[in-house]
Order: sequence, then C-alpha cells, then structure tokens
Amino acid sequence: MLPVLVVHGGAGTIPKDRVEMSCAGVRAAARAGYAVLQRGRSMDAVVEAVTHMENNPAFNAGCGSVLNVKGEVEMDAIVMDGKTLASGAVSAVRNIANPAQLARLVMDKTSHLCLTAEGANQFARAMGVPEVPGESLITDYARMRWQLNLAPGANPVECQMGKMGTVGAVAVDADGNVACATSTGGILNKMEGRVGDTACIGCGGYADNRAGAVSPTGHGEAIMKVTLARLILFHMEQGLSSAEGSDLGLATMKERVGGALGGVVTVDPQGGWAARFTTNQMVWAAAQGDTLHYGLRPDEVLTQSLAPE
Ligand code: GLY
Repeated sequence: MLPVLVVHGGAGTIPKDRVEMSCAGVRAAARAGYAVLQRGRSMDAVVEAVTHMENNPAFNAGCGSVLNVKGEVEMDAIVMDGKTLASGAVSAVRNIANPAQLARLVMDKTSHLCLTAEGANQFARAMGVPEVPGESLITDYARMRWQLNLAPGANPVECQMGKMGTVGAVAVDADGNVACATSTGGILNKMEGRVGDTACIGCGGYADNRAGAVSPTGHGEAIMKVTLARLILFHMEQGLSSAEGSDLGLATMKERVGGALGGVVTVDPQGGWAARFTTNQMVWAAAQGDTLHYGLRPDEVLTQSLAPE
C-alpha cells in the first residue's frame, strides 16, 4: 500500500486569470502535505496541505475567502480522523488565519464536534491561537467581487467571472489510517451566520478507516442535502472503488438537488484515490510514490516528479 495525499482547490469554472495560480497552489499544497505524510500521520498531512491553501490568496479559504453580504469574512472548517472517528469543526468563525488548525484543536481539546461564531473565537483565545484583523483576510479581489455581486441577480459575479474554490485534502498513511480536512469562506454574499457543508460532519468531509476519506467542494446547501461525503463512503462500503463511489455520489446530488454540480477528492485505506467532478473544472493534485498527478479539466491527468522543483 502506497501512502497518498490528494488535495482540491475548488470545483466550478475558475476565473481565467486565476487558473495558473490555482494550479500552482494545489501542486505546492500537495507537495507540502506529502512531505509530512512521508514522515508520519495522515491527519498531520491533511492539515498541513489545507493550511498551505488557506495561506494562499488564490483560494476561497483563510486569506482570500469570499465575503458575506456585509463584506466580512466568516469561515467554516472540518477535520476528521478515520482511525477513531474523532472530528472537529468550526463554523462562521472570524479573524482566524487557519480555521483547519482551529478545527483540529476542537477535535483534540474538547468533547464537542463543532464550535460556532463567537464561541469558536473564545475557544481560539483560550487555546492561544492568535486572532488576526479581519481586514488581513480580505483581498482586493474578494472585495471587488463582493461589490459587484451586490447588484441584483443570481450571483452575477460567479456567472460572469467564475468561482473561487473551497479547499480540501484527504490522505492515507503507511499505517492505513485515513483523514480529511476541508476549509472555506463559504459562498459569495452569503447571509451573516450562514453555515455551509464544510463544518458539517458527513457533508463537507468524512473519514473512516473501514471505507476511506472524502473532501467535497460545491454548493454547500446541495452537498448537505445528500450528505455527500458519507454517501460516497457508503457506496465504497458496498464495494465500489473511490472513483466509482465518487461519481455515483456526485450523480445522485445532480439528480436529486436540481442539477447541482460539485467535486470531491477521495482515498481508500489501500491507497486508491480519485479526484472527480461534474463541474467544468476542478483544480486538484495527488502525491503518491515519486509522482505528483494534477489536473483541471475532466479526464485531464498531468504528472511531474516529486523531486524538489
Ligand atoms: N462548499 C462550501 C460552501 O458552500 O460553503
């Protein structure tokens, strides 16, 4: 069994001028996470990879998050450990540079699965996690999109300019332990206090050593209606491969939730992996053995050596 780490940087049509930085960003995150995976645990590796993308303004997570209707950043994140089914999440959290790390602290240091809004921030203070100015998480690009999207209509910015993506990672380590992490700023111009799939166990992530691990991306309300991550693992428990289970889960969401599209990265405990999506594009990368696989369009799989760039 070869350990593997797979990351995504969001599904949808990525704005043309951001394709290159998004592709480079997932490749760098996969390399960073895989370096950790080679030394140790899948949980450490997925948090490392997601932290890397939260720190990259190319993505809709951490610095670079999309803005809510008031022009503020509120973020959701989740982690899950497939060995123990331990999980931690934060929702509608503000002023935190790396929400996935805070979700991990919820998992490690509390008896709860999810802390929300000001309660999550109070917990962060108690844990000594530094709070950052809200402004430091807002890029000029995110502010420009928020302003344009205040115009009436059905999300004119994403229709005309394309989407910025939620980020996520799944991995299996040499001991066969699987883990997932997902982090997002949510959806553009969302209501204040809106909680999406990313903070909800079984929706925006799930990991179980008996089946595998999944991190989805797409419209949170649609993902939640079919509990997408858990649905895909159910199909894998019935004998489908990671790719087959992912495709079936995404097809079910499309059929049952008004044509909703999305994407996932998935691993199984034997080192099988998949990056599947029903959108035009999903930026993803997978590191296994000495090869980095990556792609953007359906059925596109490019490779490069994992030797240092
Ligand atoms: N999937 C991210 C969100 O809808 O919040």
